Amino acid sequence: MSNPALCVLTGASGGLGHAMANALAKEGFRLLLVGRNEIKLKQLNNQLGSLHGHLVADLTTEQGRHDLVSLAEQLGGADVLINNAGVNAFTAFCEQSTLDISKTLEVNLLVPMLITHAFLPQMRNKSHAKLVNVGSAFGSIGFPYHSSYCASKFGLRGFTEALKRELSDQALEVLYIAPRATDTDINGRTERAINSALGNQMDSPDKVAQLLIKQLKTGESRNVIGFPEKLFVKLNGLFPSLIDSAIAKKLIVMKRVLNELN
Ligand SMILES: NC(=O)c1ccc[n+]([C@@H]2O[C@H](COP(=O)([O-])OP(=O)(O)OC[C@H]3O[C@@H](n4cnc5c(N)ncnc54)[C@H](OP(=O)(O)O)[C@@H]3O)[C@@H](O)[C@H]2O)c1
Repeated sequence: MSNPALCVLTGASGGLGHAMANALAKEGFRLLLVGRNEIKLKQLNNQLGSLHGHLVADLTTEQGRHDLVSLAEQLGGADVLINNAGVNAFTAFCEQSTLDISKTLEVNLLVPMLITHAFLPQMRNKSHAKLVNVGSAFGSIGFPYHSSYCASKFGLRGFTEALKRELSDQALEVLYIAPRATDTDINGRTERAINSALGNQMDSPDKVAQLLIKQLKTGESRNVIGFPEKLFVKLNGLFPSLIDSAIAKKLIVMKRVLNELN
C-alpha cells in the first residue's frame, strides 16, 4: 500500500498552523510539521499520532531550510507545501526597528520564496502536487501600522501569482489564501483593541483551516476570506482613493485607541 500524501506545513507551532494540522490530518494527509517551538511541535505531533513527523527549524537559516527539504525528500517528497510561517508587529513605520523591518520581509516573503524554490524539484515529479502560500487581506490592502507586513504580503501575493502563471502548463497547482484577522497569538493586545473598536470580525483558526481544506479540494487559486474584506480588496484594486478616504476615518479611531492604551 502506498503512503498517504505528504503535506509539509510551516508555522505548525502557531495558532493557524495548529488548526490546519488537525484539519489536514483528518483529511488523511501525512504531515511534516515545522516550527521553532519544540514543545508545541512535539505536543501536536503526539496528539496527531506516529504517522506524522515534525522538524524544529528556524527557516531564516540555510541549515533550517536544508534540513526541511532533505527530510521531506527522505519521506518521499512533498505532495503539498503550505508556506504558513509568518510574523507581524503592529507598529508605526517610523518607530519600527530596521531589524524588525528586515525580519518581517525575510520571514513572510523571502523564506517562502526560498523554500518554494528548494521544493520545486521534488514536487514537480508528483502528479497532483499543490503549493499554498498563506497571505493576508493586508496583502491587497495597505493598512496603517502594518507597512512592513503589507509590503511582505503584497510581495508574497505577487510572487504566488507570477509563479502560478509560469507553471500553468504544469501539474503543480499554486494557491493563495488570504485570511482576515484570526484569533491567534500573532494578534496582541493592541491589534485586538483596534479590531474591536473598528468592528472588524475575527475568525477562529478552525474556520480558516476548513476554508483551506475546501480550497485544496476545489483548487481555487485565490481565496480572500470574509466579507466585507473580499469587497474591500476588489474596491481597493479598482478605486484606491475611495479606500484611502475610508481608512483615513479608521485612522482617527486607531489613534484614539492607541492613546487610550498608552
Ligand atoms: N492571525 C491572523 O490574524 C492572520 C491574518 C492573516 C494572515 N495570517 C497569516 O497566517 C500565518 C500564520 O499566522 P498565525 O496567526 O498562526 O500566527 P502565530 O500563531 O504567531 O504563528 C506563527 C508561526 O510562524 C512560525 N515562525 C515565525 N518565524 C519563524 C522562523 N524564523 N522559522 C520557522 N517558523 C517561524 C512560528 O513558529 P515558532 O512559534 O515555533 O517560532 C509560528 O508557528 C502567517 O503567515 C500570518 O501572516 C494571520
